[in-house]
Amino acid sequence: MKPSVLVTRRIPQPGLDLLIGQCDLDVWDSDVPIPREVLLQRIADKDGLLCLLTDRIDDELLDAAPRLRVVSQVAVGVDNINVPACTRRGIPVGHTPGALTETTADLTWALLLAAARRLVEGVDYVRAGRWVTWDPNQFLGLDVYGATLGIVGFGRIGQAVARRAHGFNTRILYHSRQRKPDAEQALGASYVALDTLLAEADFVTLHVSLTPETYHLIGRDALRKMKGTAVLVNVARGGVVDPDALVEALRNGWIAYAALDVTEPEPLPADHPLLSLPNCIVVPHIGSASVATRTKMAIMAAENLLAGLAGQRLPHCVNPEVYSAATRSS
Ligand code: DGY
Repeated sequence: MKPSVLVTRRIPQPGLDLLIGQCDLDVWDSDVPIPREVLLQRIADKDGLLCLLTDRIDDELLDAAPRLRVVSQVAVGVDNINVPACTRRGIPVGHTPGALTETTADLTWALLLAAARRLVEGVDYVRAGRWVTWDPNQFLGLDVYGATLGIVGFGRIGQAVARRAHGFNTRILYHSRQRKPDAEQALGASYVALDTLLAEADFVTLHVSLTPETYHLIGRDALRKMKGTAVLVNVARGGVVDPDALVEALRNGWIAYAALDVTEPEPLPADHPLLSLPNCIVVPHIGSASVATRTKMAIMAAENLLAGLAGQRLPHCVNPEVYSAATRSS
């Protein structure tokens, strides 16, 4: 008998193709998240779950899934998954590290440049038919070339952002939980305390995972420490930035601009102040959204899932401790 698998959204076909024929597939064939009650109901008889960052995988769900043997997420971040709860049940959790590094670093720079040069304001202005002449005082922005870049979180994506900075001749500061001497040397980056980075950087980009420690890391205090001319770019998780504090900072000129790929909540309600501030750009969590990268992510997730169903080690496992019997309990 084939294992029974729930796929919680329409995913790029090459990922699905790997599963067709090998599994009994139940696909939530939609562009919007599977409703919670449907998820809880459909997971009841499944051996595997292929999920997205919009699905909450918690004790309630795991209790509703007595047969579940593997959880595989189409994303690198797994803050929507209670990983210790999976580990306790002996369930490996897969994710897609590496696949989206360069694509997300590209978007970081796209947002940084768009904010620095006020691209969205300019596009809106032209589209509204308001462009009447060249104006020496119009849409004056910030130079990126020669500026100071502050990277918070110096993992794969933070380092890929640093690599791109060389063409802009930027001074590179970084802060992360652990100092990374090899990357520092290779990329010409200097490790500094977070407060120093916030005080000195012209552009602050965020690349940390969302954890209890990083929740609202950029709140009132942090924003107060930044330059009045600074730009904040968040491509990590919305919860890393306190949205109310950010609104206050943008309204009162504590910082100049924000460019957000991720927000809290996600999506923002249409009447949220961040969506009407002229000095804030919000895009809909598209850091990894290139055809090639999303395809790669779907394939990696399918491979993780198939390995888990076959009782093999997942190629990309978030909780490898699951393989040591001592960490499991039932
Ligand atoms: C991730 O993978 O965690 C991104 O946020 C979505 O690609």
